[in-house]
Amino acid sequence: MESGKHSYMAEGSAYLRAVHMSVDGEPKVLDDPLAATLLGSDLDDKIATDRERLARPELIKARSLIIMRSRYAEDELAAAINRGVTQYVILGAGLDTSPYRSAHPAQQIKTFEVDHPDTQRWKLERLNHAGVQIRDNLQHIAVDFETDSLTERLTAGGFNYDEPTFFSWLGVSYYLNRESVLNIFRFVAGLPAPSQIVFDFIMDNSELNETERNAMMKITAFVEKYGEPWLCQFGPTDLQQTLHDIGFGTTFHFSHERATHRYFANRPDGLHLDFTTQMMSAII
Ligand SMILES: C[S@@+](CC[C@H](N)C(=O)[O-])C[C@H]1O[C@@H](n2cnc3c(N)ncnc32)[C@H](O)[C@@H]1O
Repeated sequence: MESGKHSYMAEGSAYLRAVHMSVDGEPKVLDDPLAATLLGSDLDDKIATDRERLARPELIKARSLIIMRSRYAEDELAAAINRGVTQYVILGAGLDTSPYRSAHPAQQIKTFEVDHPDTQRWKLERLNHAGVQIRDNLQHIAVDFETDSLTERLTAGGFNYDEPTFFSWLGVSYYLNRESVLNIFRFVAGLPAPSQIVFDFIMDNSELNETERNAMMKITAFVEKYGEPWLCQFGPTDLQQTLHDIGFGTTFHFSHERATHRYFANRPDGLHLDFTTQMMSAII
């Protein structure tokens, strides 16, 4: 991320969620009307200008991924609340609107939005500008995962280390170095059962065939161009082993094939996923 500026990728992700609401068919994979509210009034014009670009295969895949990962995390959150988690932490929240949607399961529990200070400042301005109310049991915690102590910042924000907690960590792990990623896993693994983390990761090149590797190189060049290069990739089996070694009892690789089957079967609008980014769920 460019110093002093909010994450371009956070804005782009919210834009694609808003595009999904406006352009794609029913049923919506992710029902996120607040994405448009936060992005502002010239959104319809921007979408109209962008129509041709949005129909390109790479943007259809990017949109499919972004709506799927939020939907999966939110479905897992609902299940985790039924299992007894009482806190919800969104790591690298960007313009995630789940804490503000009425009727969202997150409304029931203490929620902590954690993000880089530059992105969080920008989000708070957008919330204020849009007149979105911030409920009493929602805290905003500014943290740079590369340099700040998540433990210290969450403690200062009223996080309770004795309560089982659900972590959503979407679109972030690959922007950090490996040690910072492992530190997040260790942090979650230190909390009581049935704490859980759901996150996405970039498939390691060693898992790909030549065509896939070439496709991956193009996406890598794109993210580097926007100043947010990918620093960390994993193979699913190695990642599951790492999570078990750190202390997670159950891990589940929600592959793009599983996600396709659950969320994208028989859609008339062409939304679909590819292999580049995969979901993992890990429960203590
Ligand atoms: C691609 S965006 C994803 C935002 C959101 N989770 C979503 O799905 O729309 C990446 C997020 O990671 C955050 N981020 C990137 N590097 C970070 C760091 N070193 N510390 C804290 N947050 C970071 C950015 O501020 C941004 O909100």
